[in-house]
Amino acid sequence: MEVIIADDHELATLVADAIERLLRDDSAPVLGLATGSSPLSVYDELTRRHERQGLSFAEVRAFMLDEYVGLPASHPQSYRNVIDTELVSRVDFAEDAVHGLDGMAEDLVAASSDYDHAIAEAGGIDLQILGIGTDGHIAFNEPGSSLASRTRVKTLAHQTRIDNARFFDGNVDRVPQHCLTQGLGTIMEARHLVLIATGGHKAEAVHQMVEGPISSMWPATVMQMHPHATVLVDDAAASRLQLGDYYRQTYASKLDKERF
Ligand code: F6R
Repeated sequence: MEVIIADDHELATLVADAIERLLRDDSAPVLGLATGSSPLSVYDELTRRHERQGLSFAEVRAFMLDEYVGLPASHPQSYRNVIDTELVSRVDFAEDAVHGLDGMAEDLVAASSDYDHAIAEAGGIDLQILGIGTDGHIAFNEPGSSLASRTRVKTLAHQTRIDNARFFDGNVDRVPQHCLTQGLGTIMEARHLVLIATGGHKAEAVHQMVEGPISSMWPATVMQMHPHATVLVDDAAASRLQLGDYYRQTYASKLDKERF
């Protein structure tokens, strides 16, 4: 794993640079999109580049990571609605180019396996944006998830529902209990994993993900097995890293800062 410790603005710039390179170099790029707070500054930066520098998403296909079960797409907190608001409506994706899981599907099992097939048919995901939960989840693969899991229904951990209550008027009872999520095995097939974490509340999860033993108790640790995973963290999220000084030194002396 490559670990980059920088401030929020630099993190967003670096991730937007990687996405811009992909969009300019690849004629049919496939992006993996996360929701939640972590990628918001990246989406703002991509929107800025679209408006001011003509960065185009017209040829991009995208797949979302997860969705709540039982929230219609029109619900303000459905991930479909959130990604539309935060990114899709602000740039120039073609119609139907952004795929999401249907948390209202009658057959959630079929919807899940269809989703894995759709990703494969698109040629796989080139760059997957990720955040991490305080309990170490990526997408909604909660502690105990199989490290080889595919897209499926999961029950949200109580901690995740508490963490996400801020999006539901602070009321944990309004946070759905179930979700559809890409599996860890699905995520591991993306060609480049780019995870963003900021804030001290993520410090333990970041430490475990980067430096802990690989274990389904900290699902993000599976990323240690990925050949191209980049973890971008601010000082607070990096505060429990045992090798924090080493990562800072490595990045400061990196020969080509743009490439990760
Ligand atoms: C969202 C997702 C989740 C979040 C994680 C962190 O699509 O897959 O894994 O990335 O819960 O959430 P934030 O960024 O809100 O702290």
